[in-house]
Amino acid sequence: MKTARAIARANIALAKYWGKSDRVLNLPAVPSISITLDGFETDTRVTFDPRFHRDTLVLNGRRATGDKARRAIELLDRVRALAGLAEAARVESRNSFPTSSGLASSSSGFAALAAAASRAAGLRCTDSKLSALARQSSASAARSIFGGFVELKKGRKGEHALAARPVASPDHWNIRLVVAVTTDKEKEVGSTEGMERSRKTSPYYERWLEEAPTWAATVRRGIRSRNLSLVGEAMERSTLAFHACAMTSSPPIVYWRPATLGALRAVWTLRDGGTAAYATMDAGPHVKVLCHARDARRVSQALRRTDGVRAVVVAKAGRGVEVYR
Ligand code: DP6
Repeated sequence: MKTARAIARANIALAKYWGKSDRVLNLPAVPSISITLDGFETDTRVTFDPRFHRDTLVLNGRRATGDKARRAIELLDRVRALAGLAEAARVESRNSFPTSSGLASSSSGFAALAAAASRAAGLRCTDSKLSALARQSSASAARSIFGGFVELKKGRKGEHALAARPVASPDHWNIRLVVAVTTDKEKEVGSTEGMERSRKTSPYYERWLEEAPTWAATVRRGIRSRNLSLVGEAMERSTLAFHACAMTSSPPIVYWRPATLGALRAVWTLRDGGTAAYATMDAGPHVKVLCHARDARRVSQALRRTDGVRAVVVAKAGRGVEVYR
């Protein structure tokens, strides 16, 4: 029996990835930059055993099937091929936050799975190799291998080994991401499907590809110089532009709920009042607000008062993946 456990943390992109240049290798068409979040953890154990007849995946105590299981098994297959292993696996995974609702559970999920599966299979992978392995399953997962602030470049043609890399450590900058949870339902259109639909049908998609690298460069510069308004303004433009692509797809993809707009307005009102707070939304209705640590309480209070906001969680930058036997 070969077993290992890994803990990975979700990340939220400050400059968004939306769109692929290669679906088979899962290469992003734009660069992205994220913050790995403390506390938003996926804890995964992988066990390979010759007595198992097939791969099983238990997610938050329930047997997973369908697309989720298929994607996990594809990752296990890649690990088995690298390790020359034929044994089936049991995967047990738990999230400390809602799954598949735009809280980036696939980022921590595939990062933890890549790390636990490769260690269980006896592979000795560098973080960069783990990141490339996780990226093939879900590009945002490549970023969760690392802690703090992390970038994933856009993929060049045939770039099998594309991996994320750290931009700055978790303690580089004392900022917070305040997460306003608006629903605990699973999202209707997954990001993989959503970005493909945008690529095929949104009239704004080409323009998104042109503009996104500039926002990513600004976000990177702002992180390095700890300049919140520089990061925040580029971050909001990046998220609004990707949502514009999603909304103008056919059929349209609208991830927002009334509470999303309410929270966005609350952030802009805070800003009018002199608090540096900036919003970002992923493929779901939640709003994540970037602010200085000293303003996190004020931002949380404003979000808690917003109609439809069910919970508010304050996160700081977290560590990269950790692997245990
Ligand atoms: C909106 O990484 O979930 O959260 O590579 O198809 O698995 P796949 O997509 P995924 O997309 C994340 C999209 C996003 C923005 C981001 O995290 O950069």
